[in-house]
Amino acid sequence: METRTNEIADGIYRFSTYIERAGLVFNQYLVLAEQPLLFHCGLRGLFPLISTAMSGVLNPNRLRWISFGHVEADELGGMNEWLAAAPDAQVCFGSLGCAVSVNDLASRLPRPLEHGDALDLGGKIVRYLSTPHVPHGWDAGLFFEETTRTLLCGDLFTRLGEVPASTSDDIVAPAFEAEHQYLATALTPLTAPTIRRLTELDPVTLALMHGSAFGGDCRKALEELADGYEVRLNRQLADRP
Ligand SMILES: [Fe+2]
Ligand SMILES: [Fe+2]
Repeated sequence: METRTNEIADGIYRFSTYIERAGLVFNQYLVLAEQPLLFHCGLRGLFPLISTAMSGVLNPNRLRWISFGHVEADELGGMNEWLAAAPDAQVCFGSLGCAVSVNDLASRLPRPLEHGDALDLGGKIVRYLSTPHVPHGWDAGLFFEETTRTLLCGDLFTRLGEVPASTSDDIVAPAFEAEHQYLATALTPLTAPTIRRLTELDPVTLALMHGSAFGGDCRKALEELADGYEVRLNRQLADRP
C-alpha cells in the first residue's frame, strides 16, 4: 500500500491511500497555515504511512488542529496517534460529537464547535458546518475553507475504485453507484435540504474523502446529489407496504 500526496488547492494537501479490500481510496486533507489543520485522521493502522507522507509537506509535530467528519474508524482511528505526535495539537469537533464520543475517546480534551464557528488558522480560515445524519451519524459535520473555497466534504460523493487526485468529470453518477452498493447514507427528509444548503457556500473545490478532489461545477454537483437523494427517499416512501 502507498499513500500519495497531492496539493489539490492552494495550501491544501490530499494524502490518499487505496485499500484494495475496501475498493476505495481513503483521503486525509492537510490545511497548511500558521496553525495547520488535519481533516480525517485515517485508520489507526495507516498512521505510519500517512504521517510519513505528511512529513514531505509538514512535520506532523507541528499540527495544531485535528478534525474529522463523524465518529468512524476511517475518520478518527489514528486520532490519538496524531495527538501523541503533535504536542500542541487539539481535536476540534462538533459539540454534540464531543459530548457523545470524543471527550471520552480522545487522549486530550477536544475543543467543541458550534454550527458556523470559524477557526482562523493564520492564512486559512475554516468554518464548521453541522450536518446531522448527512451523510451519516448524528455527530456529522464538515468544514469549509474560505480562502480557497474548498469544501472538505467527507463521505459525500463517495466513489468506488482507485481514482486520480483531481477531476472535473461527473462525480454524481459514480456516487450513486457507490450508494447503491453500500447504502452508506442515512436517508431522511433532511438529507436533500442539508446538501442543498451547501450550495450557498459556492465552493470551488469539493475535497472528497473517498474519491478525487472535484474542480468542476460544485453547485451543480451538490444540487444533483441532493436531487438524487430526494428521488431515492420519495421512491422508498412510495414503496412502503
Ligand atoms: Fe463515514
Ligand atoms: Fe469515510
